[in-house]
Amino acid sequence: MLKSKKILVTAGPTYEYLDDIRFIGNRSSGKQGAEIAKCLQKLEADVTLVIGPVNLELAGLNKVIRVESAVQMNDAVIETGPFDIAICAAAVSDWRPKVKAKTKIKKSSTGKPQFLELVENPDILKNICIAENRPDLVIGFAAETNDLLTNARSKLKNKGCDWIVANDVSKKNIGFGSDYNEVTIHYKNNPNKKEKLSLKRKSEISEEIVDRIVNQIN
Ligand code: C5P
Repeated sequence: MLKSKKILVTAGPTYEYLDDIRFIGNRSSGKQGAEIAKCLQKLEADVTLVIGPVNLELAGLNKVIRVESAVQMNDAVIETGPFDIAICAAAVSDWRPKVKAKTKIKKSSTGKPQFLELVENPDILKNICIAENRPDLVIGFAAETNDLLTNARSKLKNKGCDWIVANDVSKKNIGFGSDYNEVTIHYKNNPNKKEKLSLKRKSEISEEIVDRIVNQIN
């Protein structure tokens, strides 16, 4: 069904280093993206998983590229593309420190915190959507703590993707780190349609998302 389809999945957090030991990151576990990649591979798709720093066993997956930062993730996506389908489940840091200090940053003599200048990271999902060889189907994720619906709809527009899978990361039992999730899928071409996949294991959520991908592609 997905045989020979070239599919990208991004997953996990990114770490943006201030010095060799400190970074800006987030609590994404990479589980949802990794489960989607496994599900797609079962259907004989040619899956590339580009994943940030996570503690996950990924031995079953054929093509895994482990990265740390958003810039590395973006480079890996460019190097391994183009793709027929892209699923961007990574929780990419929007910013990175402008410079990474060569040695561990020390407390200043005044005791005042150091000014940290940030610069914007590449928007991987947006770049995929505006590329000349855009995949036929591009799916983004939205991890939000509030105004889920508004944020999902504005993300569809701003990023240029076809679907947004939105989840509420403020709920303790689902989302970041958990084996469970509850999501709502929003569609660019059908603003009135939203499909809720109620609380279940991330592996089961993945199966339901992949079913929809198969239907869309075939
Ligand atoms: O962080 P944000 O809410 O904007 O993420 C929404 C979507 O955009 C997710 O699919 C995420 O993987 C993607 N994204 C990205 N590159 C970024 C920021 C977000 O690919 N720099």
